[in-house]
Amino acid sequence: MGNRLRPVLRRIVPASMRRQLFNFREARQAPDDWRRLVRAFPELEDYATLAERARTSLESNYHRYLTEVSIPSMAISIELATFLLVACRLFRPRKILDLGSGFSSAVFLHYAATSTTEVDLWSIDDSEEWLARTDLFARKVGLVPMRLLPWQDFLRRREERFDLVLHDLGSMKTRLATLPDVLGRVNSGGLVVLDDMHKQPYNSAARRAVKRHCMTLISLRAVTLDQISRYSMLAIPT
Ligand SMILES: C[S@@+](CC[C@H](N)C(=O)[O-])C[C@H]1O[C@@H](n2cnc3c(N)ncnc32)[C@H](O)[C@@H]1O
Repeated sequence: MGNRLRPVLRRIVPASMRRQLFNFREARQAPDDWRRLVRAFPELEDYATLAERARTSLESNYHRYLTEVSIPSMAISIELATFLLVACRLFRPRKILDLGSGFSSAVFLHYAATSTTEVDLWSIDDSEEWLARTDLFARKVGLVPMRLLPWQDFLRRREERFDLVLHDLGSMKTRLATLPDVLGRVNSGGLVVLDDMHKQPYNSAARRAVKRHCMTLISLRAVTLDQISRYSMLAIPT
């Protein structure tokens, strides 16, 4: 849609109808995007089998995380956790940026603990309290925490680049404000996973930021849609 038309439509189309149109477009895009991703990475062809194995290995810790530490709307979904573990096992990232520590940190630590790849995991948060909770949870379930850093400290490490990035940091306002920096942190050939893409205006703003970074956005709605209608997308360098 043209940039000049958008504000006009926003004024004349009721919010409920805009939401319906958004959901319709998102749902329509999802299966095509998943097929595109499978064509690019044929290893994903048997996603169902890979996902079942990954989910089984995460489920008990996920249940524990939701019972003892967080709530479903704040922790990543089991669907996204599963996708991340499948992606790690297939693409074997060495250096991972986990923005918004929590259960996602446990997923990446599980990958590191069960892989022959030497993994360098950076788990970052804008809340020191949540970094401490992540550290405690990881230890409780027998995982060995790696780097746990406040966002402000991470910002000073300008030169660091990663093979896999999960962007799930802070509030949606923080998420959007930090997105340009985050998109610049991926190695060529790397992947950036953006959670909460069901949310507007984040979705539209994230699409524009990804385009400005000459990256392509691929919906992961087909495999990450959860009980509260959340889903993620993948930004890859073009
Ligand atoms: C969407 S959460 C990040 C979730 C994390 N990736 C995970 O898998 O658990 C975004 C931010 O909210 C904060 N947070 C995490 N869990 C929370 C909770 N249960 N209540 C309030 N804030 C929380 C943290 O500071 C985190 O950076």
